[in-house]
Amino acid sequence: MTHTIALLPGDGIGPEITAPTVELLNKLGDFAFEQHLFGGASIDAHGTALTGEVTDACKRSDAVLLAAVGGPKWDTTDPAKPRPEQGLLGLRKALGLYANLRPVRPLPALYDASPLKREVIEGTDLLVMRELTGGLYFGRRGRDGDSAYDTCVYSVAEIERIARAGFEAARRKVTSVDKANVLESSRLWREVVTDLHAREFAHVELQHVLVDNAAMQLISNPADFDVIVTENMFGDILSDEAAMLTGSIGLLPSASLGGDGPGLFEPVHGSAPDIAGQGIANPLAMFLSAALLLRHALGMENEAAAVELAVDRALAEGLRTRDLGGGATTDEAAQAVLNHL
Ligand code: IPM
Ligand code: MG
Repeated sequence: MTHTIALLPGDGIGPEITAPTVELLNKLGDFAFEQHLFGGASIDAHGTALTGEVTDACKRSDAVLLAAVGGPKWDTTDPAKPRPEQGLLGLRKALGLYANLRPVRPLPALYDASPLKREVIEGTDLLVMRELTGGLYFGRRGRDGDSAYDTCVYSVAEIERIARAGFEAARRKVTSVDKANVLESSRLWREVVTDLHAREFAHVELQHVLVDNAAMQLISNPADFDVIVTENMFGDILSDEAAMLTGSIGLLPSASLGGDGPGLFEPVHGSAPDIAGQGIANPLAMFLSAALLLRHALGMENEAAAVELAVDRALAEGLRTRDLGGGATTDEAAQAVLNHL
């Protein structure tokens, strides 16, 4: 059976890490890739980061594989100008992808690549379950005279469905992260999570942690976390922080799920305009995002595990791209993984 994948290379290093990922996937199954302009590339061609045609094509696909968007060329503070990120936010919303899964599992081979001590990161295996279609990212915003505002809004239903996803993914514990000592939306968050826990998930341990404290514990005691459930903006910040436990944000994949249609799979890292076009970007987060696509969108667990194992082995054998302190190019990194597949 042919699986249709909507491919969105986007900007910066996006196209460079997409090409080897297509090669990797073609070794594992029968895929029809439909490539589209997205983000800054779409702004240049169509004046908008996400066209209706691309949204429709994504909706019709079996899964969406996205690399990265953005770059200095499209940076602006003018609210009237299009921004590449609007494509990403618009697509997440259009596909109803409220649950963003960001697994963080430092590999033993890379313990010494992390800025943290080996004793601190050893045994870390956590999942950031980030709410993706609400909160500050989608609340009312605007300018009013010489001030500007953004609003953080959450409904009971929005909180409950992401909390449920968190409890279902938990093996031992859910850490719900909020700022309930200050924010009203966080107080509702805490109430709803507590309530759902009592009703349906009393067998899972639940802990409430304030976001500032969670940021500290992620560095001081990362192995203590299992699933972190949190709202959109806190999840954005904490997942970049958690990425450094693995040594590089160049290793972290993500899956965005929850809608009726296809899921969206993308690395956590950005478009890295500073190294774009040089052939030195680390393709591993994109490979691992493809593994999540195989697992969550297509039920191809064996193939997903094979990609993850090949990445582990390549790293164990010494593969190091520049972000990991080595000199491997994108091609060399891709080849090292393909050799182990
Ligand atoms: C991410 C990114 C995006 C976000 C940006 C590019 C809009 O940082 O996926 O984490 O903030 O969600
Ligand atoms: Mg981010």
